[in-house]
Amino acid sequence: MIIGKLGAAGRGCHGERSGMDAAILKTFDESLVRCQAQAGFLDRFYEIFLASSPMVRAKFSNTDFVHQKRALRMSLHAMALAAEDEVAGPAKYLESFAERHSGRSLNIGAEYYDLWLDSLLQTVRETDPECSAEVLQSWERVMMVGIGYLLSRY
Ligand code: HEM
Repeated sequence: MIIGKLGAAGRGCHGERSGMDAAILKTFDESLVRCQAQAGFLDRFYEIFLASSPMVRAKFSNTDFVHQKRALRMSLHAMALAAEDEVAGPAKYLESFAERHSGRSLNIGAEYYDLWLDSLLQTVRETDPECSAEVLQSWERVMMVGIGYLLSRY
């Protein structure tokens, strides 16, 4: 469950940049480049995510997926920027996403983020030709920083 995974990322102290290990971010960045080089990466993500639950399909019943895929592409980079500085980064890069996904707008609760993360990891497993346990862990670690922030602002 999402809640159990919150706070898994490491923290610095005494004024260090409080982000996760540079090695984890590098593993994530390189995998993201490989995934985005494969045609259909984001199509496959939405195919898996929409198939994960009728609840998810209902949320996207009026969605323009050309725009949505463009927005997701951008937000994966924003999630990495947020993880680079876990203290200041999430508010700096994810504030507007948090408001949009909160109970005041799209109303996306924790149960949806479980499905979102599982769908994303499944897509990476299928898409990244160099996928490994380490690669999947880097995606999970990076995404959990942003997900934790979005949920904290729900
Ligand atoms: C941390 C994970 C997530 C990220 C980074 C993310 C990112 C985004 C972004 C960038 C947008 C576009 C905002 C805009 O156009 O102004 C968006 C819209 C949306 N997201 Fe998410 N999202 C996440 C999780 C979820 C989850 C778990 C759901 C659950 C169903 C969800 C449902 C939606 C919906 C329904 C929209 C609006 C679609 C429309 O305009 O019709 N998102 N999301």
